[in-house]
Amino acid sequence: MDMETPYRRLDLSHRLSLLGPRGNTLSVIAAGNGPALMLLHGFPLDHRLWLKQLDHLSDTYHVIAPEFRGFGNSTLDEPNYTLSDLADDVEYIRTHLTNDRDSQTPDKQFVLCGLSMGGYVALEYWLRFRANLSGLILANTKPQADDEAGRSARLAMAEKARTDGTREALRGMPEKLLSANSISHRRELRSLVEDMMFSTESNTIAAAQTAMSGRRDFNSHLSSIDVPTLVITGEHDLLSPPDSTKQWASAIKDAKFKILSGSAHLSPLESPNEFNSVIREFCTEIT
Ligand code: MLT
Repeated sequence: MDMETPYRRLDLSHRLSLLGPRGNTLSVIAAGNGPALMLLHGFPLDHRLWLKQLDHLSDTYHVIAPEFRGFGNSTLDEPNYTLSDLADDVEYIRTHLTNDRDSQTPDKQFVLCGLSMGGYVALEYWLRFRANLSGLILANTKPQADDEAGRSARLAMAEKARTDGTREALRGMPEKLLSANSISHRRELRSLVEDMMFSTESNTIAAAQTAMSGRRDFNSHLSSIDVPTLVITGEHDLLSPPDSTKQWASAIKDAKFKILSGSAHLSPLESPNEFNSVIREFCTEIT
């Protein structure tokens, strides 16, 4: 099992606030120099999902961790957005941040990694902007849209968040995201996850659930994905179980597939060493 790794040289001085195209604030944490690697967080989290990646992978890569609308320090100015709008935000951030600092040539291609909701956005990004991708990493996610029951559950959570607040809407969620071992024995990790979840404003919860309820189904697109792809899940992930993940990953040509031991849905936090070495290996192969 992947044990806690001490932070190597965590420096979050590279916290940026970009003024988005509609006057909104897009918060981005970036660290390191080198080929760009952008990390998209899951729901209802923020850049802190990626602290161990910002810390360790920034020795080689320009690691960029944006925060989606309303999450972390990004603002939610327009509650009715779609996941395609979030892919536009990713492209906006890419154009502002991935210029090679030693030359005037824009370094257009980058590796995009999305976890769960971040994975849904990464797939949207691929659909619209695939020429910019040197690699795609889909972690603890799935390509299918919600069925009717799934959509209703999301809209019910959105309503609960509006009426009863974040904490009530997210009751029982840490147990769904983390492994039983993390819940019982990794107190700091659990507190970090709960802090990310419970500090998210209720209108952000409602907006994100509504956006996810309307997301497109990517199953029919998988065989057209022609950028190098890595699919990752955790051995205990209940939301993206290894068997079904392996099955859809096999529809992507030459996709690599890894199951991380000891982790559930939040593998970058629960198995950071293994997560980082799998990413490093993939990025080394493709860049
Ligand atoms: C996430 O971790 O982003 C969520 O589990 C995504 C979802 O609700 O489908």
